[in-house]
Amino acid sequence: MKLKIIAAILLFASWSCVNKKTAIVESSSKLGNDLVIEQKVDSVLKLMTIDEKIGQLNQLTGNGEVTGPVSFANEYQEAIRRGEVGSMLNVNGASYTYKVQKIAVEESRLGIPLIFGYDVIHGYKTIFPIPLGDAASWDLESIEKSARIAAIEASAAGQHWTFAPMVDIARDPRWGRVMEGAGEDPYYGSQVAIARVKGFQGNSLADPNTIVACAKHFVAYGAAMGGRDYNTVDISDRTLHEVYLPPFKAAVDAGVGTFMSSFNELNGIPVTGNKGMVKEILKEKWHFNGFIVSDWGSIREMLVHGIATNEYESAELAMNAGIDMDMEGHIYINQLKKLLADGKITEKQIDDAVRRILRIKFMLGLFDDPYRYCDTAREKELLLNPRHLEIAREVSRKSMVLLKNNNVLPFSKNVKSIAVIGPLADNQDDIIGTWSARGEGKDAISVLTGIKQKVPTARINYAKGCEITDESKVGFAKAIAAAKNADVVLVVVGEAAMMSGEALSRAFLDLPGVQKDLVLEINKLNKPMVVVLMNGHPLTIEWMDKSVPAILEAWLPGTMGGPAVADILFGDYNPSGKLPITFPRNVGQIPLFYYHKNTGRPRVEAERYTSKYIDSPNTPLYPFGYGLSYTTFEYSNFNISANEIGMKDTLKVWVDITNTGKYDGEEVVQLYIRDLDGSVTRPVKELKAFKKVFIKSGEKVKTEFTLTANDLAFYTRTMEFKAEPGDFKVFVGGNSHDLQELSFRLK
Ligand code: NOJ
Repeated sequence: MKLKIIAAILLFASWSCVNKKTAIVESSSKLGNDLVIEQKVDSVLKLMTIDEKIGQLNQLTGNGEVTGPVSFANEYQEAIRRGEVGSMLNVNGASYTYKVQKIAVEESRLGIPLIFGYDVIHGYKTIFPIPLGDAASWDLESIEKSARIAAIEASAAGQHWTFAPMVDIARDPRWGRVMEGAGEDPYYGSQVAIARVKGFQGNSLADPNTIVACAKHFVAYGAAMGGRDYNTVDISDRTLHEVYLPPFKAAVDAGVGTFMSSFNELNGIPVTGNKGMVKEILKEKWHFNGFIVSDWGSIREMLVHGIATNEYESAELAMNAGIDMDMEGHIYINQLKKLLADGKITEKQIDDAVRRILRIKFMLGLFDDPYRYCDTAREKELLLNPRHLEIAREVSRKSMVLLKNNNVLPFSKNVKSIAVIGPLADNQDDIIGTWSARGEGKDAISVLTGIKQKVPTARINYAKGCEITDESKVGFAKAIAAAKNADVVLVVVGEAAMMSGEALSRAFLDLPGVQKDLVLEINKLNKPMVVVLMNGHPLTIEWMDKSVPAILEAWLPGTMGGPAVADILFGDYNPSGKLPITFPRNVGQIPLFYYHKNTGRPRVEAERYTSKYIDSPNTPLYPFGYGLSYTTFEYSNFNISANEIGMKDTLKVWVDITNTGKYDGEEVVQLYIRDLDGSVTRPVKELKAFKKVFIKSGEKVKTEFTLTANDLAFYTRTMEFKAEPGDFKVFVGGNSHDLQELSFRLK
């Protein structure tokens, strides 16, 4: 009823707005440019008391799920009635969100609808591969599609807002959240960020099957020292601007509706209280007009960081930094009014935060119909819809990376017997990975089942062999016997779901438990054998690369992981994924990434005083961009349009790729550059473009790339973003290591 009153006011407001033709927002961002919405926002704002305004900035967790340390007993229903809550997280399902929304709409004074947020990271009910795996497809359409399906399902189940994509660049494979992003590269990470934002938000937030995305965690969370989650970040301003900020900027340009501030401190200041980052860069420089939510309790945690001595100070820091919504910190609700009375913050600041939140609520259509996402019939129809499962299978097989293949794969479908071994072979729970929203193991198809479906006439000898983390080897004998009696052997090993993700960093990156011993024992039988890896961190498996004949990186592949693995193993899909992150040989090499500097003494094996280890090569086990196919690709006719270009010119780069093998296949053609003489040192390689091309066996495709001065720009000695005249190299190839090169000059 109250909503109807507001609606009537809004209708009037929108008319008056249009008639007055008021220029409300001057911004390059699409958010905030809809005059009708802006006028509606203002008209609601006018009706609100200061307490109601502060209430909009408060986000509480429901008890559906707990995704952080709960330090308060939440009586959120009462708080909603009192108008003290603007958003809930962890409230799930069309009927439950309906009930909670009804309290806000019918029982609070103004009836302002809540916005429901949830971690829809790689699917809602139909679970896709973990984001790192999804990114390994280098197929932006496929990446967008997985986010789209996640949004369709989540929106049918009452959600309006996902805390995704995580666009943090991750260069330390020990970091637990490496699984949640797109890997180590700022250029590729930016492309994936755009695809994911588009996928979640679709063409318009007004469509009821879209949800608002959240670029997180702003910023440099992935640079945590030692890869230990939440740890200190101390990086140069240049690295911040060149490596960690670009995917966030790309998300803003793609129209992302919200941001989340990160837990970490950045060079001494926790980002949640960092005015220079949030207010000055994100809001003012980038003109971001959506809203910024803190991470779970991160306003309160400024006390623990040691930058505020009480809640009052931490609220002041966060509000002045530009954080609009307090996630489960209970700080804004308790402190903002006092800060306002004391003149430490202004009502204008509060209004700005409220306006940003209301703007997104209007864009989602929540004022038109607060229950439009709470449709149980739609929920029933769409969750785990067969079409979604089909797409999950496609996305999953595209994500897999063939790391090694000594003529073992693909297996013949006429194989008489196959041994399926390992703790992840008949596993439905771990394969959906961590952050799997409402996904359930019972809906997932294991590798064992996938194989049985693929080759129903083959004899399958299944033996688990060992557990993922246990030290017991009692199952080895049965596994060895199963392998002995089979024509081909498949061993599925790796990490449990809860070995990567938030607060799940690792100090060791080898296979946990006795899985290594299991693989080596089975390998002694000299059978045609493939190891399928399931993991959320890159693994240090040099020993495996040296011993077993074939390795397939399947990540944590989601609900349809089993059939996707079977499609690849039996040749129904030719693997085409490439690593979005470097696999080191050992933990001692970390941090190890392709985009490094040359140093004054680059490694020379025979020369002592060069930059190297005495007990390990510098090179990775598998470089960034690496991945094999069942076919082979040959690069030829690499050429550029000029040896010298001006600042306004375009350089064309051509290369032909021939499929020289027996199978049709896809290749990810990668283009890197190197600036040889900058005013500051530049990385030895920087990815600047890529194309995924399908090539039939025996055929050749011509590819063309273009480079402009903007692609050669960087933060110069004076921190200006521009290209400098000088000599450059341009490289093309199928991974960041095996490349052909040419030179050119920028005048
Ligand atoms: C903390 C995590 O860092 C963040 O990514 C997540 O969205 C929130 N908890 C909510 O669950």
